[in-house]
Amino acid sequence: MSRKKINSLTVHTFGKKENQAIIFVHGFPFDYTMWNDQIRSLQDKYYCVTYDVRGLGDSYVGDGQYTMEFFVDDLFSVIGGLHLNKPVLCSLSMGGYIALRAVEKEQDKFGGLILCDTKPEPDDDKGKLKRAAAINKINTEGLGKFVDDLLPGLFAEETPENMKEMYERILNHSKTYDPVGVKGCLLAMVSRTSTVRFLKKIKIPTLVMGGSFDKLTPPAAMRKTSEKIKGSEFAIVPRAGHMSPVENPSYVNDMIAGFIKRRVVE
Ligand code: MLT
Repeated sequence: MSRKKINSLTVHTFGKKENQAIIFVHGFPFDYTMWNDQIRSLQDKYYCVTYDVRGLGDSYVGDGQYTMEFFVDDLFSVIGGLHLNKPVLCSLSMGGYIALRAVEKEQDKFGGLILCDTKPEPDDDKGKLKRAAAINKINTEGLGKFVDDLLPGLFAEETPENMKEMYERILNHSKTYDPVGVKGCLLAMVSRTSTVRFLKKIKIPTLVMGGSFDKLTPPAAMRKTSEKIKGSEFAIVPRAGHMSPVENPSYVNDMIAGFIKRRVVE
């Protein structure tokens, strides 16, 4: 493993640089460690790159005035800084918002796209009000309360009990972030644009998958996204909620490896 700073972001690389690169972009409110299981399983065959999105983990927090466009520029700065050649872009939820917008801007930069538990639609009015309430809760009740209230809904009902150690590690870790950065991510998400109309223009190999018990981006919504991306592959991850890569890592790892073998690396 090697760790470096690129554009004030903490970037981690695993495996041999000459292998096909996969760049992993995490969801909210998490950091690169949510991809630990994927990296462990894929690093022998692929050059695995991941980083903490601005405001979360060890990356730069600054004033928290972020937009989705900053996040996309950050992603391109990691790709440029490491001279990655057509990496496969693997993303979850907020990471998927970043990925879809990045591909909308420059799809030729990528060898493939993996979308886990995410959506191309921007927040509707109800969603915008939920973001406002979230910022208010962090200000008035603290980040700990916000995380305690948010996290159970991101996992399948049985996960906190069945995967107690993992669940508690993620829960406690999310409470350690800088509230300024967490609120900055909420602002970036609420102000993001729609990528719905772009879906039919995606030409790179794409895999869409999501947890069978995902309440935020349920299987039917993920299927709808996949149907709009010509030739994309689609999978439902069993025994998983919105956090499918950590809830059912072996299934997700096999899907990623199979997809890259079939569609990206000849
Ligand atoms: C995530 O997992 O990244 C978030 O649920 C995304 C969101 O709040 O829209």
